[in-house]
Amino acid sequence: MSEGSKPRLLRALAGETLDRPPVWFMRQAGRSLPEYRELRTRAKDFIAFCHNPEMAAEATLQPMRRFPLDAAIVFADILLIPRALGQEVWFEAGEGPRLGELPPLESLADQVEASTERLSAIGETLARVRAELEPDRALIGFAGAPWTVATYMIEGRGSDRTGARTYAYEHPEKLDRLLDILVESTARYLVMQAKSGAQVLKLFESWAEGLAEDVFERIVIRPHIAIIEQVRAAGIDTPFIGFPRGAGALVETYAEKVPVQAVALDTQASAALGRKIQAGGKTIQGALDNLLLRAGGPALDARVDALIAQWNDRPYIFNLGHGVLPDTPIEHIERTIRRVTGR
Ligand code: CP3
Repeated sequence: MSEGSKPRLLRALAGETLDRPPVWFMRQAGRSLPEYRELRTRAKDFIAFCHNPEMAAEATLQPMRRFPLDAAIVFADILLIPRALGQEVWFEAGEGPRLGELPPLESLADQVEASTERLSAIGETLARVRAELEPDRALIGFAGAPWTVATYMIEGRGSDRTGARTYAYEHPEKLDRLLDILVESTARYLVMQAKSGAQVLKLFESWAEGLAEDVFERIVIRPHIAIIEQVRAAGIDTPFIGFPRGAGALVETYAEKVPVQAVALDTQASAALGRKIQAGGKTIQGALDNLLLRAGGPALDARVDALIAQWNDRPYIFNLGHGVLPDTPIEHIERTIRRVTGR
């Protein structure tokens, strides 16, 4: 690949400082786009949509046609893994995910190999998108991190995670076993994604908040390291972005111990924290407030400039601190990209 066409995102992940940072947005596919909502009406349900490569590739590419983004993220969901392992998963309109009872751990463990095959449609989506996307734009694959996925599997829905954190204390062996099963299934899934065209792999640990340091080490850091080791053992050298959302000061420990190429920072992350992680040799990503992106105005412009000024003298990827909110005006997304890229 010539330097001219190597995607800016991959250059930043390889440790290059760039004249302007690459830019993409968490949850850029779907939600805020009218063309997504139109496409969505044609699927039986959200899970069927994710498992339909033609439609999922279209949803992945929609924001790429509309905006000059540096990367696409595959249209899928973190809850496809529990489903592939045999737990029932569905989405209640307007409410979010619901899961059936947690199956016995032995039956989940028996399904690890089959789970990767049941997710093959996502590989097909990636291959389709990679074939269509311009060579200077990167394609990101992803999975939910084991703890975050386990919170949904244990609680059966989105929650404040009190039930799952209590489970971690009351049933430590069971939780560790569940995390191990998720590590194995997730590593296999990510290897499949890389082989299908994903050039970056992201681990979404959306619920890393509120964990005591020893628990954080056990249920966040250890499983992330294990996944990356298993992916590397399969001969895959694709860069990783880790997103321990809400980890606060423990993000520093995360950055030191987990062999990711980049750490995605949430909205709270201070300028100094980001600089420390960069000084430790890692690229950082983030951390524009999604509420500010929605609100717009001069405060949005000022914050975009401030983030670039505070972080772009070391490897940095421009993004939000969490996903795009569904009612974000499209003009605010356009304006922000223009401000970052000059385009
Ligand atoms: O980033 C992208 O645009 C790619 C696709 C993507 C989706 N979900 C599509 C989706 C990604 C990366 C995710 C990750 C995800 N899913 C997370 C981690 C990131 C985060 O935001 O913290 C979590 C916790 C989930 C679980 C999930 N999926 C919830 C809680 C919900 C319902 C509420 C919501 O956010 O919309 C979903 C559904 C979902 N996932 C939708 C989309 C486009 C909406 C479904 C619809 O169109 O009906």
